[in-house]
Amino acid sequence: MNSKSMQSHHIHYASLGSPWSAKADKIQSATGIMLGCFLLAHLHFESSILLGKEAFYHVVQFLEGGLFTSSGHGMPIVTKVFSIFIMLVVIVHAAVALRRFPAQLGQWRALRRHMQGIKHKDSHAWFWQLVTGFILFFLAPVHIFTMITNPEIGPHLSAERVYHANAWLLYALLLPAVVIHAMIGLYRVALKWGLTANRRGLRKVAKILIIYLISIGVLSLVSYLIIGRELTLPITPFVP
Ligand code: HEM
Repeated sequence: MNSKSMQSHHIHYASLGSPWSAKADKIQSATGIMLGCFLLAHLHFESSILLGKEAFYHVVQFLEGGLFTSSGHGMPIVTKVFSIFIMLVVIVHAAVALRRFPAQLGQWRALRRHMQGIKHKDSHAWFWQLVTGFILFFLAPVHIFTMITNPEIGPHLSAERVYHANAWLLYALLLPAVVIHAMIGLYRVALKWGLTANRRGLRKVAKILIIYLISIGVLSLVSYLIIGRELTLPITPFVP
């Protein structure tokens, strides 16, 4: 067998699937579920700012292990360590997802032809997950690295980051990209592993969650901007 036909055989077998491919599929689903659930919790904890500075302050103290310190104050090191863990999960998730990216122009053209041809809603969902996944490749690490290097969180500390350090720019792009990516991802995983066969109902749930999460995210972002605008530098951390 010459090298050209060996190569084509190799590609042929690879496309048929292999034990590694099945394993990578499971790793992608498992890390995707972890990140999707994390995002659902994250946006709710973070939007406690909508209930006031004090509510957000207490949520942060609790999540940073305030229950286990004599002073009742949380420890930013908890955020740092957890952020490193989330970064590792994101890296594994992205590494196994890379093999799904159409690598060549011809494959992109085929994908576009396919989408125009069949107008199947799930193909469009998959396409949007691909586009948002590509965007997240650049945006998510910036945010997670910031939480690793500068893990101080609080009503004033977060407002300072959002308003004075211009993190709102990053969040305004990250929020829709990650919410769409995560909700389409959870929808596809639920169908893939047979959680339900009701595509139409599940699609409705995913759409409602996308609108709901982007709404609470935008409202929280506006709250941080309003709080940040009223702060004078250097800021003093909020204490109830
Ligand atoms: C464990 C790691 C993480 C920590 C500790 C964390 C913490 C925070 C905090 C405290 C904020 C509020 C603003 C600020 O203080 O800067 C925020 C905002 C945000 N985070 Fe994270 N985050 C983490 C990981 C992630 C990941 C993996 C994503 C998704 C890729 C994400 C998406 C967002 C978005 C979209 C916002 C803006 C929300 C809004 O618009 O209201 N975060 N994060």
